[in-house]
Amino acid sequence: MNTPTYRIAPSILSADFARLGEEVRQVIDAGADWIHFDVMDNHYVPNLTFGPMVCQALKPHAKTAAGVAVQIDVHLMVSPVDALAQAFAKAGADLISFHPDASTHVHRSVQAIQGAGCQVGLVFNPAEPLDVLDWLIDDIDLILIMSVNPGFGGQGFIDSALRKVEQARKRIQASGRDIRLEVDGGIKPDNIRRVADAGADTFVAGSAIFGQPDYANVVRAMRQALA
Ligand code: DX5
Ligand code: ZN
Repeated sequence: MNTPTYRIAPSILSADFARLGEEVRQVIDAGADWIHFDVMDNHYVPNLTFGPMVCQALKPHAKTAAGVAVQIDVHLMVSPVDALAQAFAKAGADLISFHPDASTHVHRSVQAIQGAGCQVGLVFNPAEPLDVLDWLIDDIDLILIMSVNPGFGGQGFIDSALRKVEQARKRIQASGRDIRLEVDGGIKPDNIRRVADAGADTFVAGSAIFGQPDYANVVRAMRQALA
């Protein structure tokens, strides 16, 4: 397999919520490829973060110094899914991923997100099997494997996620489609290589980056580990 284009997607869950616009600009200047929005509704997960209005407010800040737009990667930890997905699409999301166990009609939710002009992904919790991909892998742009239980940043990496990444990579290869394989939770410079070796190409990192004074140092360390 030729070396994939790795993407680092800092999660603003661990950013300073009093300065989110500045944080987004800073982490992009530090080399981030995507901005990961962890949307929580205090219903599907026991935490509450932000809605589409914050995505709309941050959209103008999600670009490089040269003015190139940076992908807004919205991870919906909400149930029900459909109305909020449409609202985030209108608010400027480029990619919207959701948990299949949070939607009554998963195939319809995928179609609705595509219909709104966004790329679409499915998110799998640590104990969630990949079976739904049997019927949806030809319709999605991203698979997101949770390596922590959703709801909080700063948790420890759950090793069994590596086996699921390997399984997801095999499914992607068998599909022949260009699907991004993203991992979310507990990613650090000292474990990102293991996650890449299992088959991931896109990495969410919140506390590893925003918990440090120099974001560029962390992003650089991650890229060096991936090289
Ligand atoms: C969990 C969140 C976190 C976050 C990453 O619901 O999705 O996984 O993005 O947090 P860290 O990198 O601090 O584990
Ligand atoms: Zn996330």
